[in-house]
Amino acid sequence: LETAVARCTRCALAERRQHTVFGVGARDARWMIVGEAPGAQEDRRGEPFVGRAGTLLDAMLAALGTRRDAVFITNIVKCRPPGNRDPTSEEADACRDYLLAQIAHVDPGLILALGRVAAQQLLGVKTPVGKLRGRLHQGPGARPVVVTYHPAYLLRTPAAKRQAWADLQLAQSCVAVCAP
Ligand code: URA
Repeated sequence: LETAVARCTRCALAERRQHTVFGVGARDARWMIVGEAPGAQEDRRGEPFVGRAGTLLDAMLAALGTRRDAVFITNIVKCRPPGNRDPTSEEADACRDYLLAQIAHVDPGLILALGRVAAQQLLGVKTPVGKLRGRLHQGPGARPVVVTYHPAYLLRTPAAKRQAWADLQLAQSCVAVCAP
């Protein structure tokens, strides 16, 4: 699957990428964390969440008593949209089979959706994050999904960290009950 992603030309994002960003972590992780798309640093390194947002994500994982190599981290699209714009729904559609295959292979007990693009794409809705967070949803394969704010948003809006922490605790208690 990773080789197929590395060779993918299903959308125009392939033309400008330096690296595809498949995802990292434990291939049998109980948590799958899904962001929106690689940024410039991720495109250079071929790894998700390695910039400032990634440092905050690592701190959030540490607060939960876990680490990036114990979860699986990926994005809705595997190539960087130019100028860090949001991926289009056509780009997300072109990449969807890869994400669904990753979810099927890792078989996580819980999916944590970071931010609007991940939440709306995983749940197939157009509802804002503020209305999706704080409760459990059913995602692909009827898996539990918890939605929270994107770490890049939390860097701009530190007051939302309290809600994000509540979301992470909800996710942790769901994993403890649903996928012990
Ligand atoms: N933001 C994302 O959504 N994903 C990354 O990999 C990096 C930043």
